[in-house]
Amino acid sequence: MASIRTQVGIVGAGPAGLTLAHLLHRRGVESVVVENRSREYVQERVRAGVLEQGTVDLFVATGVGERLQREGLVHRGIELRFAHRGHRIDLDDLTGGKTITIYGQNRVIEDLTNARIAAGGRIFFAAEEVRIGGFDDGGAPVIRFRADGEPVELQCDFIAGCDGFHGVCRPSMPAGSLTAFERQYPFGWLGILAEVAPSMDELIYSRHERGFALHSMRSPQITRLYLQVAPDEEISNWPDERIWEELQRRFETVDGFTLNRGPVIQKGITPMHSFVVEPMQYGKLFLAGDAAHIVPPTGAKGLNLAIADVRVLARAFIEYYRSGARERLERYSEICLRRVWKVQRFSWWMTSMLHRFGDENAFDERRQLAELDYVTSSRAASQSLAENYVGLPMED
Ligand code: FAD
Ligand code: DHB
Repeated sequence: MASIRTQVGIVGAGPAGLTLAHLLHRRGVESVVVENRSREYVQERVRAGVLEQGTVDLFVATGVGERLQREGLVHRGIELRFAHRGHRIDLDDLTGGKTITIYGQNRVIEDLTNARIAAGGRIFFAAEEVRIGGFDDGGAPVIRFRADGEPVELQCDFIAGCDGFHGVCRPSMPAGSLTAFERQYPFGWLGILAEVAPSMDELIYSRHERGFALHSMRSPQITRLYLQVAPDEEISNWPDERIWEELQRRFETVDGFTLNRGPVIQKGITPMHSFVVEPMQYGKLFLAGDAAHIVPPTGAKGLNLAIADVRVLARAFIEYYRSGARERLERYSEICLRRVWKVQRFSWWMTSMLHRFGDENAFDERRQLAELDYVTSSRAASQSLAENYVGLPMED
C-alpha cells in the first residue's frame, strides 16, 4: 500500500476543492486533492455560468484569471420579464460599478486544474472507494482510496470535504453532530446548451403563466436556456422541438421577441433544493461548498458560495500554519454560515418570485406580480436585488 502525507487532504476536485488547493499553495500550505471522477468527466460537466464580481476578482488576483478576462463576458445588467414587459436591472449603476461575468464552470475547473498541475500540485482523478477517518479532535486524519487499483493512504493534518452534495464527507460525520435544514421545490429545471448566438446580449429571467424560463449564454456562439418543469420530469419527454416551442412561448411575451434556434448540444434536468447543515465542521474535518449546502439555481449562487467558503477556510489554515492559532479554524462554520443563510434567503426569494408553485390562488398570483412590479420600479428594491446578485461583500 502506498502511503503519502500532506498538510490538508482535500476530497473533491470541483470549484471548492481546486480553489482551496490553489489558495493554500500560494501561501506555502501543501495539499493533495482526491477526486472520484476522471479529469475529462469533471471538466466536461455542464453546470453554472455566472461569476460574481468577488469571484472574478479573486481568480484574477491569484493568477488564474487570464483566460477568464479574455473570454468571460462582462454583463452590467439583467432583465426581469413578466406581464408582457421586460425590465432591466442595471447592476453596474445600482452597485457602484459591480458586474457579473459569464464564464462556464467547466472552464473554471479547467483553469484551476491546469494551474495546480503546472505548479506541481497533486490531484488523484478517478480515485475509487474514497473513505475518510481519524478526524476527531486529537485523531490522525486519513483519506483512503484506490488509485489504478492500488490502495493509497493519505495522511494529513486536516480534511477539507469539498465533495459536493452526494459526497462521502458529510455522511462520515457522527450522527447527531449535525443539524440539517432543508426545503424541496415542486419543480426542476430542464437546461440546454445550443449552438446558436444568444437572442439578447444579457440574461433574461422570465416569469410566465406556464412556468419560469431563463435565457443565458456561454459565449457569443453558445446559448444556455432553462425551463421550469415538473420535478420528476423525464428528459425523454422533451424532444428538441418541444423544448424550443415551450421556450419561445415563455419568452415571446415581449412584442417581436424571437428566440434564436440552433442544434442542441447538451440537455439535462436539475432538481431544486435548499439545504444547509450546521455546523460545517467536526474535529479536523471541514465541509465547503455543496457538501455543506445547496441552493436552488435561480440566483446563480451555488458556485460563488462554494468559492466564498474556501476563501474563509484557506485563510484559517494559512493562519494556523503561520502562527499555530486555531481561532479562525474554530470559527470557520460560524463565519461561513452568516453568508450561507443570506444567500439561501436570496436564492429562495428569487425562486419564489419567478416560478409557478402549482398551488397558488388568484391572490398569490397578484402578489407575485406586485412583487416583481415593486422590485423593478423601486430603486431601493432593485438595489437590494442587485447587491445580492453581484455578490455580497466578504466578511471577516
Ligand atoms: P461540486 O462541483 O459538486 O464538486 C464536488 C466534487 O467532488 C466533484 O468533482 C465530485 O465528482 C467529487 N466527489 C463526489 N463524491 C466524491 C467522493 N466520494 N470522493 C471523491 N470525490 C468525490 N449553480 C448555478 O449557480 N447555476 C447552475 O446553472 C447550476 N447548475 C447545476 C447543475 C447541476 C446538475 C448541479 C449538480 C449543480 C448545478 N449548480 C448550478 C450548482 C453549482 O454547480 C455547484 O454549487 C458547484 O459546483 C459547487 O461546487 P463544489 O466544488 O462545492 O461541488
Ligand atoms: C445560469 C445559471 C443560473 O442558475 C442562473 O441564475 C443564471 C445563469 C447559467 O447557467 O448560465
